[in-house]
Amino acid sequence: MFLKFRRIRRCQCMQLMTTCLVLSVVMVCWEQLDNSVVSHVKSYSYRYLVNRFIYINKSLTIPREQARSFSNFQYLLDHPDKCAGKDVLLLLFVKTSPENIERRNAIRSTWGNETYIQNTLGVTVKVVFALGVPQTKKEEPSWSKRSGIGFQEQLVHEDSLHGDLIQQDFLDSFHNLTLKLILQFHWMHSRCAHARFLMTADDDIFVHMPNLVSYLQDMSSRGVTDFWIGRVHRGAPPIRSKDSKYYVPFEMYQWLAYPDYTAGAGYVVSGDVADKVYQATLTLNASIYIDDVFMGICANAIGVTPQEHVYFSGEGKAPYHPCIYDQMMTSHGHVEDIYDLWKAATHPQVKQRTSGLMGRLYCTAVKMALLCKPYYFNTYPCKAAFF
Ligand SMILES: *[C@@H]1O[C@H](CO)[C@@H](O)[C@H](O)[C@H]1NC(C)=O
Ligand SMILES: *[C@@H]1O[C@H](CO)[C@@H](O)[C@H](O)[C@H]1NC(C)=O
Ligand SMILES: *[C@@H]1O[C@H](CO)[C@@H](O)[C@H](O)[C@H]1NC(C)=O
Ligand SMILES: *[C@@H]1O[C@H](CO)[C@@H](O)[C@H](O)[C@H]1NC(C)=O
Repeated sequence: MFLKFRRIRRCQCMQLMTTCLVLSVVMVCWEQLDNSVVSHVKSYSYRYLVNRFIYINKSLTIPREQARSFSNFQYLLDHPDKCAGKDVLLLLFVKTSPENIERRNAIRSTWGNETYIQNTLGVTVKVVFALGVPQTKKEEPSWSKRSGIGFQEQLVHEDSLHGDLIQQDFLDSFHNLTLKLILQFHWMHSRCAHARFLMTADDDIFVHMPNLVSYLQDMSSRGVTDFWIGRVHRGAPPIRSKDSKYYVPFEMYQWLAYPDYTAGAGYVVSGDVADKVYQATLTLNASIYIDDVFMGICANAIGVTPQEHVYFSGEGKAPYHPCIYDQMMTSHGHVEDIYDLWKAATHPQVKQRTSGLMGRLYCTAVKMALLCKPYYFNTYPCKAAFF
């Protein structure tokens, strides 16, 4: 009896010690855990169990006069008549930085060529570039500040050639991306309100314009409203680690999860959503500088939720293959290869190789091989193979 009792005590003692050991290891690793695993667990439980974001609007709503400070920047370059008198299917804003002239030229002569789109696809798409003013560093000597002015002159020159730069008088920086988002919705509201869709995209993205146009024509003929499509982030937690580019302090956003939003690399909204988002920006605090999250906050305020399209890539890059080109919408991270990709992706052979029963079977097999891998790699999801 006594012996048994002692054995139990020893067992419990061992258990207690093991628990302590595990706990202390967990405590030591807590910093890292808190930043990744725990914050995801917390945010997913928040997103899927609590699933209430109604308070966001209330606490981020500010008086109109104060909200105006996020939008009342002067236009330095503008084209008020860009859309006038035209039946615009899509207004496409490319978020660009002043120095990225090569990226803009690549877009102009590939997927963003309005003439090509008009002649070949028979629709009007307006491609414009949204930017702020070039940065000049404080510590730079005055001669290089003068070259900062030269920078603006270069932009004026570029704009006189192409007529597609929309520039406002705010500093073009990562932390001002939300101002750039607001610029886009306000510009559409005042200069292109009749466009049926609005797209916003990064300047290192590839857009398969023929696929996108036929998809949007289909959506438009069905009269879609409340339409917001892209690669959806659900229940993403705010990043509280100060080392991160996406660090957001608690004072700026207090909750455990962001509302659902689409990756800022490229997404499309219908005209009615664009107008409602514009209305929302008139009364929301736009201090949060992650522009796609702010878009999620606006959409949350107006009751719109994003839908996933498997061929919008988010941060990822599409595999190079005709079977992918046949269906891709966007692919992220293309700079040097954009000319080749445009040529390959719009080649008539793509349709020939992928059509018919044999072509479709072949492509399903190819796409499974390309997209369905046992490990994570950043591209279209496996289910896109069966789309
Ligand atoms: C755009 O396409 C048209 C017609 O396809 C072509 O003539 C023009 O050179 C293209 N523009 C650019 C900048 O490549
Ligand atoms: C954003 O732009 C404004 C206006 O130019 C500027 O005062 C501010 O410093 C910029 N903010 C950041 C974080 O760059
Ligand atoms: C907007 O939010 C920021 C913090 O993210 C805060 O400092 C600022 O006071 C808020 N603006 C208004 C008008 O409430
Ligand atoms: C936010 O909520 C208030 C009421 O709670 C509502 O009056 C307002 O229209 C909402 N804001 C937006 C932008 O929808």
